[in-house]
Amino acid sequence: MQEIKIEKAKILKEKPDFSKLGFGKYFTDHMFMMEFNSEEGWHNARIVPFDYIPIHPASTVLHYGAEIFEGLKAYKTEDGFAMFRPMENIKRMNSSAERLCLPALPEEFTLKALTELITLEKDWIPNLPGTSLYIRPFMFGNDESLGVHTVKNSTFVIILSPVGSYYAEGLNPVKICIESEDVRAVRGGTGYAKCGGNYAASLRAGQRASEKGYSQVLWLDGVERKYIEEVGAMNVMFKINGEIVTPMLTGSVLPGITRKSALEILKDWGYKVSEKLISVDDLISACENGTLEEAWGTGTAAVISPIGHLFYKGKDYTVCNNQIGELTQKLYDELTGIQWGTAEDKRGWTYKVKA
Ligand code: PLP
Ligand code: COI
Repeated sequence: MQEIKIEKAKILKEKPDFSKLGFGKYFTDHMFMMEFNSEEGWHNARIVPFDYIPIHPASTVLHYGAEIFEGLKAYKTEDGFAMFRPMENIKRMNSSAERLCLPALPEEFTLKALTELITLEKDWIPNLPGTSLYIRPFMFGNDESLGVHTVKNSTFVIILSPVGSYYAEGLNPVKICIESEDVRAVRGGTGYAKCGGNYAASLRAGQRASEKGYSQVLWLDGVERKYIEEVGAMNVMFKINGEIVTPMLTGSVLPGITRKSALEILKDWGYKVSEKLISVDDLISACENGTLEEAWGTGTAAVISPIGHLFYKGKDYTVCNNQIGELTQKLYDELTGIQWGTAEDKRGWTYKVKA
């Protein structure tokens, strides 16, 4: 395993007020970087002062969008910090890399890079309820040439940002707009990969939703525009008639790590859980006939986010009286309890580091 060189920042930044963090606005003093080419593989692993990245104007990422990223969090513990299922993120990044023909990351080395960077930045891990250190690893194709071809040179970077809640609403219910015009992804495309292009394609619908007063878009499948897929930055789950349903992973939905964890917790609690195709018509009928009891999103940034309103084809439907549902709250408490170390981690999901 190669060594990670460390160049420390000469001047450290003033830390923000941890009670007013929001999401992704502040960055720590250092970042991790390394490069890939076919002769040397991954090389020049280093932790350096957080700074701009010089980039050639013909770089692949600027023209053809060869970029993938991940999102995970570190939580302050009594004697250091814990990351939630970091290997899942590293493996998903490699699945995204495979889809975009970017080079695979060495898994154990990437975990070491995360651990070393966060250890150096441990004073940036906020400790107030609902806060954490958001970790954003990303990789981009960096060939200095305009031909459209498989990338030969890539750059991998990890940046860190102390965060509070993703939505301005905090843990209060969010308003979600079901999009019936634009689509985010299709089977065979890049929907299951976490690549920047998926998010670029979602911005127009997101803007339209925001103009109507909704926080995010709920996507329908790209072929029939009939089946529920996922929300802009989270997977989605519904409690209908006492049972939990969530869209199955068809290839156009991101396989969320929070989704996977929540499903396991719900099954352990004895709920009937189905991963299946859910038609938007069935969902709207469940809103109308009162069988939709609760709806929530799952995601690293979004954690467990109650959904209080759904908008579809000109009509707004209130979910769970726009309150946090009982099960939604219980799931939030259990998941964040495991993450923050206040609930028992029976499944060994947290990766604890003494720092
Ligand atoms: N779906 C999309 C489009 C996302 O951006 C995210 C966030 O990462 C998720 C789902 C949830 O995935 P995870 O729980 O792994 O954060
Ligand atoms: C995450 O939850 O980590 C995400 O990537 C969501 C979003 C900020 C794009």
